[in-house]
Amino acid sequence: MGDRIHHDGVLIVGAGLAGLSAALSAAPRKVLLLTGAPLNQGCSSAWAQGGMAAALSDGDTPELHAADTIAAGAGLVDPAMAALLAREGPAAVRRLAELGAPFDRTVEGGFAQSLEAAHSRPRIARVKGDQAGREIMEAVVRTVLSSRHVEVRAGARLKGLLQDAEGRVCGVVVVHNGRPLEITAPAVVLATGGIGGLYGVTTTPAELQGEGLALAALAGAVIGDPEFVQFHPTAIDIGRDPAPLATEALRGEGAKLINASGEAFMAGYHPDAELAPRDVVARAIHAEIAAGRGAFLDAREAVGAHFPEEFPAVFAACLSGGVDPRIQPIPVAPACHYHMGGIVTDAHGTASLPGLFAAGESASTGVHGANRLASNSLLEAAVFGVRAGVAAASETMPGPRALRRLMTPDLPQDALQTLRAAMSRDAGVVRDAAGLDRLLGQIDQLEAAHGRAGPLVAARLVASAALDRRESRGGHFRTDYPLSLAPQRTFVTLPEGTPASRAA
Ligand code: SIN
Repeated sequence: MGDRIHHDGVLIVGAGLAGLSAALSAAPRKVLLLTGAPLNQGCSSAWAQGGMAAALSDGDTPELHAADTIAAGAGLVDPAMAALLAREGPAAVRRLAELGAPFDRTVEGGFAQSLEAAHSRPRIARVKGDQAGREIMEAVVRTVLSSRHVEVRAGARLKGLLQDAEGRVCGVVVVHNGRPLEITAPAVVLATGGIGGLYGVTTTPAELQGEGLALAALAGAVIGDPEFVQFHPTAIDIGRDPAPLATEALRGEGAKLINASGEAFMAGYHPDAELAPRDVVARAIHAEIAAGRGAFLDAREAVGAHFPEEFPAVFAACLSGGVDPRIQPIPVAPACHYHMGGIVTDAHGTASLPGLFAAGESASTGVHGANRLASNSLLEAAVFGVRAGVAAASETMPGPRALRRLMTPDLPQDALQTLRAAMSRDAGVVRDAAGLDRLLGQIDQLEAAHGRAGPLVAARLVASAALDRRESRGGHFRTDYPLSLAPQRTFVTLPEGTPASRAA
C-alpha cells in the first residue's frame, strides 16, 4: 500500500502553536512537519482571541498563577505541572515577542495584562485586542518557514500509525496528494489538536475530530481525563458552525450577561457572577436558554463605541451576523471549545509508548484538570511544545523491524453529522446516565456500519469516561450525580488487538 519513506529526525503531526513550537525547539535535528491544512489554517491556535496567561506584571507571581490554575481545575490539576507551566510562562511570552508577536504594551513598554475569569489578577498578555492567536501564529509561522531544519508538508492528512511488536511508535501513515504514504522516524510528535468537530457546534476548526487521540489510544497509549470537555460560555449564537467567539476578555472589561428580559442573571448562579469559572458560566447560560429566557452578552456600556478598536475580531463577527455590539446585546450560547483530556504525557511531552510524544490540546499534561483556566491553552502549547521538541530530538531509531499499521476508516459525512448531534445532546454541558447510554448505543451503531473511525473512537473515550464518572466536577456535570466525590483523574488504555490493527 503506497510508498514508504524514512525521515531521520522528528516527525510532527499538526501545525498549531504546539506543533510549531516543537519544530523550532528540535533544532538542529531535522524536522518533518505534516499538516492537513495550509499553515495557519485548520488549527485552533490561530483562532484564539484572549491571549496568553503569564505572571508578567508587578505584584503577580508564577505561584499565584499556578494557584489559580489549580483552583479552576476543580481538584484534578497536577500541582507540579501547573507550577512548571506558570514558572515557564513569562519566558514563553518573551520568546514569542522576540519572534515578532506584537503583544500589546504598557506606556512603560511592559506587557499590557487584562483580566479573564477565575484569574485573581489581570494576567493575560493580549495582542491587538482580540487578535492573539492569529498574530502569534503569524510570527511563529514566519520563523518556521525560515528555519532550515524544518520541512513542511501541507495537505498530509493523518490516517494511521506504524508500530513495532514491542509497541514502539515508528512512524505515521498519511494521505498526501490523494496517495497513502508511510513515513518512518525515530520520534513522532502528535500535536493534532482537540475534538471540537465531534460536537454540533464548536468554536474550533470543525476538522479537529480527535484523530491523533484516537490513533494513540488504538496503539495502546494511556489516555487521561477524556470526559472533561470545556464549553465556551459565549460563542456568538448567529446560527453558524464553527461559531465565532465573544472572548472572555469582554466580561473582564465589565460586559454583563443578560437574558431576553434584560435581567443580569449571573449573580444568581455564582458570587463571582460574570467572572465565575468558565464551566459555571456555561451551565448558567445553558440553563437560561433551556428555560426559554435566552442569553446575551451586553457590552454596550462596558465597551460600547470602543468595540472596533478593542475587539476587532468579535466586532467583525457580530456585524457579519447582523448584530452591532456597540448598540445591541450579543446573542450567545455555549459551544465546544477545548478538550482537557488527551494523550497522557510527562513534562517532556513523552507519552506512555516509546517513540511517541504529544503536545498541545491533544496531550494531557495534567495542567488543566477538570476545567482549564482561561488563556492557559496557548501557554501550554508554547511551553510543552518546546519541551516535547527538545525531548523528541534526542530519540534514535532502533534497527530494522516489522511494523504493523494502525489505520482508521473514514467516517461518511452523514454519519459524522449524526455523531455530532448525539454528542451535543448527550455529552454536552449537562449529562446523565440515560443520555450517555443512548450516546454509546449510537456510537455502536455507527461503528457497526462504518468501522472504528477516528471520530467514533474519540467520542467513545469521552462518553464511556463520562458514564463511569458518577460525580460532577468542572466541565463534567451529571444531573443524576450533582455532587463531587474524592478527586481522582481518569486514565484509560484500550484493550490490545483492536479490529483496527493489522500486520503490514
Ligand atoms: C477567550 O478569549 O475567551 C478564550 C480564551 C481561552 O480559551 O482560553
